[in-house]
Amino acid sequence: MERIEHDIVVIGSGLAGLRAALEASRVSHGRLDVGIVTKTQAMRSHSVAAEGGTAAVLYPDEGDSYDSHMWDTVKGSDFLADQDAVENFVHAAPEELRLLERWGLPWSRRADGRIAQRPFGGHEFPRATFAADKVGFLEMQTLYGAVQAFPNIHVHHEWYVTSLLKENGRFAGVTAINLKTGTLTVVHAKAGILATGGAGRIYGFTTNGHHSTADGLYMAYRAGLALKDLEFIQFHPTGLVPSGILITEASRGEGGYLLNIKGERFMKKYLPGKMELGPRDILSRSEIQEIREGRGFEGPHGAYVGLDLRHPGEKAIDERLPMVRELAEKYLGLDPIHEPIPVRPGQHYIMGGVSTNLHGETNVPGLYAVGEAACVTINGANRLGSNSLSECLVFGTATGLSAAAYAKKRGWPRGTAAKEALAKEEGRIFGGLMKHEVGKESVAAIRKEMQQIMDRDVGIFRDEKGLTDACAKLATLRQRFVDVGVADKDRVFNTELTQALELDFMLDVAQAIAWSALNRRGSRGAHSRTDHTTRDDANYLKHSLAYRGDGAPRIDYLPVTI
Ligand code: FUM
Repeated sequence: MERIEHDIVVIGSGLAGLRAALEASRVSHGRLDVGIVTKTQAMRSHSVAAEGGTAAVLYPDEGDSYDSHMWDTVKGSDFLADQDAVENFVHAAPEELRLLERWGLPWSRRADGRIAQRPFGGHEFPRATFAADKVGFLEMQTLYGAVQAFPNIHVHHEWYVTSLLKENGRFAGVTAINLKTGTLTVVHAKAGILATGGAGRIYGFTTNGHHSTADGLYMAYRAGLALKDLEFIQFHPTGLVPSGILITEASRGEGGYLLNIKGERFMKKYLPGKMELGPRDILSRSEIQEIREGRGFEGPHGAYVGLDLRHPGEKAIDERLPMVRELAEKYLGLDPIHEPIPVRPGQHYIMGGVSTNLHGETNVPGLYAVGEAACVTINGANRLGSNSLSECLVFGTATGLSAAAYAKKRGWPRGTAAKEALAKEEGRIFGGLMKHEVGKESVAAIRKEMQQIMDRDVGIFRDEKGLTDACAKLATLRQRFVDVGVADKDRVFNTELTQALELDFMLDVAQAIAWSALNRRGSRGAHSRTDHTTRDDANYLKHSLAYRGDGAPRIDYLPVTI
């Protein structure tokens, strides 16, 4: 049996995972052995695609305050955020940004030399801290650089984790396929941190990269943990048409307009006070409304609205939004200083995730979750733009600290769980999926149907009929998956196999999303029910919890911390 050991295993190498690994190493003075297991080369993690800003209160002397950041976040969440978590978050965020600066991050600067911040939707103060429009990339590069200074951190690039191990109810490690060789390996660990990011690829039109396939959510769900508030899916108002690539909200923070086909700034009808800088849920609904009422532009890839960046001028765009210009030029051959960019709402973020406390702890001792895979809960029913990167940093630190404290006290798991899990996974993957007859069902066909169902019935607007239909159709897809075959029988870098495993995970999480949405018969934040349009605090001021059942997921509820 292939087997390796780390005191702590971090699953995922985005911002949250790297920050947690660094903190566990710092606090143990490099004495804990930390393994990062990531299905991609670490610097290809989806966090690099974050663009516009990281929220933090840097300038109380200029009018910003913790109370203001906290209020914006809670109000933006449509009051579903846990307020103790938000309080903790806003206080810890500024130091995280200063720490990144000390580790070498070149923040953009104002004329007076101070770190620059820009407006972002739903924030009353311009507190989105930025480095042009490459914030995620530069934060990742800074943390990845910092990781290199710790010989106790080992990064296993291109290893795909397939299951979590438990022994006597406690976390004991993971099984993972080394994609370069196809070897199934047990990674034994005293503590594990799920930092696998989001689930965007469950949807068809998404800003998320191809790696965002709900892996951590599924593994926690399969291990019996609750997935909290899954029905709250964020649609970003400016996904580039047709690819879905993110066109940062910073383009509106820097003055960009949203236009309909009549050339009107239509947000004046929906949100005259904030216009293009309202929360994402409201902007996305407004765009769809314009399109449905025939005021969108029509194109070969469907309807869209225009993002107009002609007025800020070439110099401002090149200084502050160089990537937006580059993306529009490379992918569409249009220059945004001369023409509006075609955009429409794309799935961007999942507010829900593995239920944790403020320290990243789950209900399985030794297992932690952080970042987009987790739900701590600061985002509630709608996340404010620029809060997620700070969330990864703040709770990455907290989770690294608590996992380190736990790992220091624990001995090595020495039971039979590893042997059993390895045999089970070998049978499931290489004995089962890989051996199936090819041709009856395909990954591509089932994935496409799942994405169409989710886009249509579990999208921006939802109702009982559509959601019931989605639940039934997803259950059928789940059954059909049993007949999926993999044509490539080689173990080495078998991307077809990886995609089949990812689809298996996504199908379960898609069902949990649809069932959570069906059971919330009220509208709140990003969950907009056309048949239950009021917020209904009397019945629905509560978190939902989805548990894996034999057939449909079981849905339970939890009070919000006010
Ligand atoms: O538009 C953006 O730059 C996205 C930021 C975020 O989701 O926080």
